[in-house]
Amino acid sequence: MGSNLARNLASREGNTVAILNRSHEKTDALVAEHPEAEFVATRGYEEFAAALQTPRTAIIMVKAGGPTDAVIDELVKVFEPGDIIVDGGNALFTDTIRREKAVRETGINFVGAGISGGEEGALTGPSIMPGGSDESWVTLGPILTSIAAVAEGEPCVTHVGHDGAGHFVKMIHNGIEYADMQLIAEAYDLIRRGTGKSPAEIADIFAEWNRGELESYLIEITAEVLRQVDAETGQPLVDVILDQAGAKGTGAWTVKSALDLGIPVSGIAEAVFARSLSSKPAQRAAAADLPGPSAAWQVQDADAFVEDVRLALYASKIIAYSQGFDEIIAGAEEYGWDIQKGEIAKIWRGGCIIRARFLNRITDAYAENPELVALLTAPFFREVLVEGQEAWRRVVAGAAASGIPAPAFSSSLSYYDGLRADRLPAALVQGQRDFFGAHTYKRVDRDGTFHTLWSGDRSEISAVDTH
Ligand code: 6PG
Repeated sequence: MGSNLARNLASREGNTVAILNRSHEKTDALVAEHPEAEFVATRGYEEFAAALQTPRTAIIMVKAGGPTDAVIDELVKVFEPGDIIVDGGNALFTDTIRREKAVRETGINFVGAGISGGEEGALTGPSIMPGGSDESWVTLGPILTSIAAVAEGEPCVTHVGHDGAGHFVKMIHNGIEYADMQLIAEAYDLIRRGTGKSPAEIADIFAEWNRGELESYLIEITAEVLRQVDAETGQPLVDVILDQAGAKGTGAWTVKSALDLGIPVSGIAEAVFARSLSSKPAQRAAAADLPGPSAAWQVQDADAFVEDVRLALYASKIIAYSQGFDEIIAGAEEYGWDIQKGEIAKIWRGGCIIRARFLNRITDAYAENPELVALLTAPFFREVLVEGQEAWRRVVAGAAASGIPAPAFSSSLSYYDGLRADRLPAALVQGQRDFFGAHTYKRVDRDGTFHTLWSGDRSEISAVDTH
């Protein structure tokens, strides 16, 4: 990914790109393979610093964690105040906050920048989410703008906010990516098991969906993955891939951070847990003979069912984005970042993994109402949910009745029903908490905090206002 980003930078007018790798062979190979880039090969940090014009900008693309700290330590020794060190990896945003604070003391700018788009995006134009100081953005803005993807004439980069804001937003991007991928996988599984269609036939369905409201990179590549045939066995490739999903950790970070912030990102969490469950072969083998429903699933009208699944997918996807934006809002408040939600949706329209047609609707929703308390209640999304909710229920009920796991679909529907509920059983939870721990509760009919003197003898129960 680093070499592709370097090639992208070198291809833009006015950029001189110096390369420094731990392995000199790697640098030499890159320089030899791409003479058109006119890379300056360097062999050490001093040589690297000397090759750059001031203010210097270094973009670090190494493994998150210790290796990033090690490179920063070396760069700080050879850089000068006003220079900029950019971490373009998937760093944990709290590490970025820490690093920015430490590097700032030297007068050097440190910028954590989320970069999305994979190998190809790095070369042809990624979506970039930089944090860091306003001063760094003056120099960095034009450089990053020159290499970013362009969507509807606008570059997919914006100064997200100070210190760790860029990596925080990239983390949420990845959380939504996990949810989106899991929802698509559930849609595929339900259609396959419900209708008996082959992966190639389902590829056609996804290709068709990609011409409508669901148009997105992930739907597009899903069609290609499902169409792929294994050269060795002649089987659909998806059938010979081991069904244990990996994860590098950014989805889990999104959920951990949401737990700290108290934001229910249940759809994202289910997507992370679904990968964990898939990767527990011993437990899966031990549970394989537990009973399921007695009758096999019989979908009567395959076309109608496929349309139900499409609507359920769309509705659940709205929940994932709504939850992700809730976390962005909470993070911005907690860490003091001025994050423009509509701008984030804009820079996700191109280059990144979750790029999708409906992101414009998110920008519109926040433009119409910057104080929107829940994205799913914006007029456009409300309409989609009104149209899709019956189908969503049919799909989730069908999945449960037939023993097909659909954790992201069903948790998204529960979230939707939870939010719209007039009354929640949280009242009972409060009663239980007060019973065993005197944790107190509030009442619906008057202000104050109350504790009940619980007893088996109802006559002894009395309420006290602890105010
Ligand atoms: C991107 C991707 C990228 C990557 C992650 C997630 O935005 O380009 O999100 O950062 O694919 O490494 O990968 P895992 O699925 O392995 O966690």
